[in-house]
Amino acid sequence: GAAELGPYRHYMQKEIFEQPRVIGDTLEGVTGIMPELFGDGAYGVFKEIDRVLILACGTSYYAGLTAKYWIESIAKVPVNVEIASEYRYRDSVPHPQTLVVTISQSGETADTLAALKHARSMGMPHTLTICNVSTSAMVRECKLNYITRAGVEVGVASTKAFTTQLAALFLLTLTLAQVNGRLTEEAEAEHLKMMRHLPVAISAVLALEPQIIAWAEEFARKENALFLGRGMHYPIALEGALKLKEISYIHAEAYPAGELKHGPLALVTEEMPVVTIAPNDALLEKLKSNMQEVRARGGQLYVFADVDSRITSGDGVHVIRLPEHYGDLSPILHVAALQLLAYHTALARGTDVDKPRNLAKSVTVE
Ligand code: G6P
Repeated sequence: GAAELGPYRHYMQKEIFEQPRVIGDTLEGVTGIMPELFGDGAYGVFKEIDRVLILACGTSYYAGLTAKYWIESIAKVPVNVEIASEYRYRDSVPHPQTLVVTISQSGETADTLAALKHARSMGMPHTLTICNVSTSAMVRECKLNYITRAGVEVGVASTKAFTTQLAALFLLTLTLAQVNGRLTEEAEAEHLKMMRHLPVAISAVLALEPQIIAWAEEFARKENALFLGRGMHYPIALEGALKLKEISYIHAEAYPAGELKHGPLALVTEEMPVVTIAPNDALLEKLKSNMQEVRARGGQLYVFADVDSRITSGDGVHVIRLPEHYGDLSPILHVAALQLLAYHTALARGTDVDKPRNLAKSVTVE
């Protein structure tokens, strides 16, 4: 009811603003990296496996895609990420030394549960879930788990469940790296410091809300939008586009920016807002030339740029600056800005933000 909402207009907004706290809760008590964070016997399982298969749906699938970038780069373990409803019905090649990871807010999604059972029936016994409900079927079915502590998520469009999944997946990444002898004590200490500082860092992004509202008022008049990201921010672009579609009903597509010239550039006109995720990372210069390709066709760029990225606003280039560049954990900060953009665009269009048409919070039937 209204009392529970406090100063917020919708559960989605409330849940976006709970993220600093629930990310802190999810990482609470993590004083060091150790396999047992994922349950008894985790060390033996992590020693045994030589690859990871992630199975999930919807927003949880995008958390998995982000984790692929982390795990391959930091732990050097190969990762496949599959949409659960596709995986369960296709012929694939099982490998017994696979860590099968399901990601699910509810722990009850029918396709994800069926995909898990399918993987196990093909001879892959090492299972782990990242899940927000400790009493769920998914947790019962998996040998290992990490319970995110997002709390109850009411808004159909997932927000705090996603960022807490990312926090848990980053812990999994560091743990796999450690088991493989790829995590020095200095690196562990540095990563833990960054993780502990996440609540403060994400609060600083949420404080950009007034600037994002101004953009949302323009977005509310559009019928299409493109989202661009590169590297580990490509899944974040996908999630930003999904959020906008789900609650504002604006058609949105995400592309890895390098792929623009292979199709989506044909859609770019003055009428096409192009949301660009511009972290100050190794791909920034490449991204800037992708932005030029958009500007040359008259597209309007809406850029979320880290400090020091030297991207300035100008004709057709709108910039909101994120307070700090956050290295490997940058996706967690950038997605919070995109959640607010979707939320305020939907608000301006007057849609039913917490209960978008045709969608359910958890899909327990096929
Ligand atoms: C539904 C929800 C999404 C969610 C997806 C997967 O589509 O609307 O927000 O990402 O299910 O749900 P799960 O509980 O498995 O994460």
